[in-house]
Amino acid sequence: MTNKYDVVILGSGVIGLSIARELHGKGLKVAIVAKDLPEDSNSFGFASPWAGCNWHSFETDGNAPAAQWDAITFRRLAELAKEHPELCERIPFYTVWQNEKKGDNELWFKDLVGDFHKLEASPSNPLPGNMSFGHTFSSYILHAPAYTAHLGSIVRSLGIPIYRHRLSSLDEAYNLPEIGRVDLVINASGLGAKSLIGVEDEKVYPARGQTVLVRAPEVKTCYMHVEGFMAGPLKPGEKPPPEPAYIIPRPGPEGHVILGGTYIKDDYSSLPSIPEAERILKACYNLCPALAGPNGKSWKDIEVVSHNVGLRPAREGGARLELVHREVGGLTERRGIEPKSDSQGPRRKVGVLHAYGVGSAGFQNSLGLAEKATQLALGYVKSQKTRAKL
Ligand code: LAC
Repeated sequence: MTNKYDVVILGSGVIGLSIARELHGKGLKVAIVAKDLPEDSNSFGFASPWAGCNWHSFETDGNAPAAQWDAITFRRLAELAKEHPELCERIPFYTVWQNEKKGDNELWFKDLVGDFHKLEASPSNPLPGNMSFGHTFSSYILHAPAYTAHLGSIVRSLGIPIYRHRLSSLDEAYNLPEIGRVDLVINASGLGAKSLIGVEDEKVYPARGQTVLVRAPEVKTCYMHVEGFMAGPLKPGEKPPPEPAYIIPRPGPEGHVILGGTYIKDDYSSLPSIPEAERILKACYNLCPALAGPNGKSWKDIEVVSHNVGLRPAREGGARLELVHREVGGLTERRGIEPKSDSQGPRRKVGVLHAYGVGSAGFQNSLGLAEKATQLALGYVKSQKTRAKL
């Protein structure tokens, strides 16, 4: 019996969709199963639509896999910006911080981004927010909900179906009624990887991010004061870094700008906090008073469009991109819960390619991670075909 699909992908966020498109380009037959669909831009717990979102790598080691994914994505975003300026645009960036030791690493991406300069405050050259140090360069901003929906429509136009389905276990994915039998599942389920039976990765955690969407058409520069994001774990006795503040303009005609933010581990609360929103508005106004408009006099003059909360699908130790060989079928029992399907028949060898845990970096990881995931998936499918012929 031949399978109708080579691969089923769990998740239709920016990671699952990017992988789907890439795999299709290499000739594989792909289907997607997801709890949230690409256009579900208001679904709490679906991380992609809530992202900032820009290319500002948080990797400190240029040889780390995630830095390589970021680099590939950066190069490929040039094409997106050219074809879809309403989704992706290249603009000036400032990264600023107060503490030199924490932020003044030689950034691995300084030659990648271009226009890169180191900044140090002086009376004649004050930095945004009166910070002490900084970098400036040019990089990309993306419209997160529109880009996610755009990827969804590309994927569908390629003939890749996206089924809404909330899976309880990984095993179920190998023989879903809509899709039939598959030998490879790609797990791009984000936070889902924490509770999906058969994965249950305890390292996965939500990192709650609150942002404020505002209208400020004159602001066409991205400002990042995120020294905590790149600082690594605190040493004993060390003061925690200041809370993050960042300003990410959104491409498109609305003149919208995302102001952030928070990064709170293991916090699932969906309601925005108004005191937190005020903290964000004040901190962002301090970085860029132009947010309040040409006649604005204080942070209170910033035109607020909406208060948002998203859960970053984070993981201790970083994202997981890993191919694992496993078995399904037979009458398996795990913790007393039987898989709903594929529970009959002989056990068979299958593969799962895990691709989750990207945290703050989903969009900037996405195209590079999709390329690497595709190499791993193709290798698996090829080895299966060779085995079948033997
Ligand atoms: C975030 C952006 C800065 O995760 O990437 O909030």
